[in-house]
Amino acid sequence: MHSLKQSFSLALLMACFFMAPVYAADLAAGEQKAAMCLGCHGPKGKSGNAQWPNLAAQQSIYIINQLKAYQADTRDNPMMQGIASGLTDDDINNLAAYFASLAPARAGGDSALAKSGQPKAAMCLGCHGPSAEGNGQFPRLAGQHPAYLVKQLKSFKDGTRQNGPMQAIVGNLSEEDFNGLAAYFGSL
Ligand code: HEC
Ligand code: HEC
Repeated sequence: MHSLKQSFSLALLMACFFMAPVYAADLAAGEQKAAMCLGCHGPKGKSGNAQWPNLAAQQSIYIINQLKAYQADTRDNPMMQGIASGLTDDDINNLAAYFASLAPARAGGDSALAKSGQPKAAMCLGCHGPSAEGNGQFPRLAGQHPAYLVKQLKSFKDGTRQNGPMQAIVGNLSEEDFNGLAAYFGSL
């Protein structure tokens, strides 16, 4: 009886240990820190200018990876490299959780172009999610500004932005494909 009680308390202790989150992101702290992002990325992460990507409903793991890439200078953008260099790991986790929690934006896209891009989009959804909502390290594309998406596709193609899978995929696509795909994803 004694040993049963002992092993029960041990099991309870273990359960508590394994249930404790490794790190609980602090949404309120993320929202507060995000004040310094909204001048460009827009209120609630919905940007009014295609130069600046929407961050609303972006995948938190993807946001973390990008902020760390700017910090490490493996993604090149002087504006974001400067901003990211001032963030701590806690700031990054909190900001990522905050932007991921917001309702998605919908940039819209030229409807004729979007129609031309739709057939090719099927090859993107295996990674970017069935509705292009993203999944972990794979970013949300749905509702993103088409001009921003085209710029990123071009930088994967010319190698200024590095990522093995994306560089392989854009190798077979033309600028016309980029425009169609970007309009289609922006319209979702
Ligand atoms: C002065 C304008 C400006 C401010 C302020 C700013 N950003 Fe950015 N951000 C940009 C631009 C421009 C890009 C696109 C850069 C590129 O093409 O790589 C970008 C890109 C990003 C990306 C990559 C998005 C993607 O889809 O890949 C993330 C994440 C990001 N910013 C987070 C933040 C956070 C968090 C803050 C606040 C702490 C912030 N930014 C503040 C201008 C800004
Ligand atoms: C094998 C998986 C895979 C497939 C298939 C794929 N992608 Fe990606 N894509 C990624 C990954 C991973 C990233 C994030 C790269 C990084 O962290 O810099 C990405 C990033 C992107 C970005 C940058 C988004 C941003 O917010 O900056 C765009 C745009 C993009 N993909 C478009 C596409 C399009 C269009 C297709 C189909 C023609 C496609 N992807 C197919 C894996 C994939």
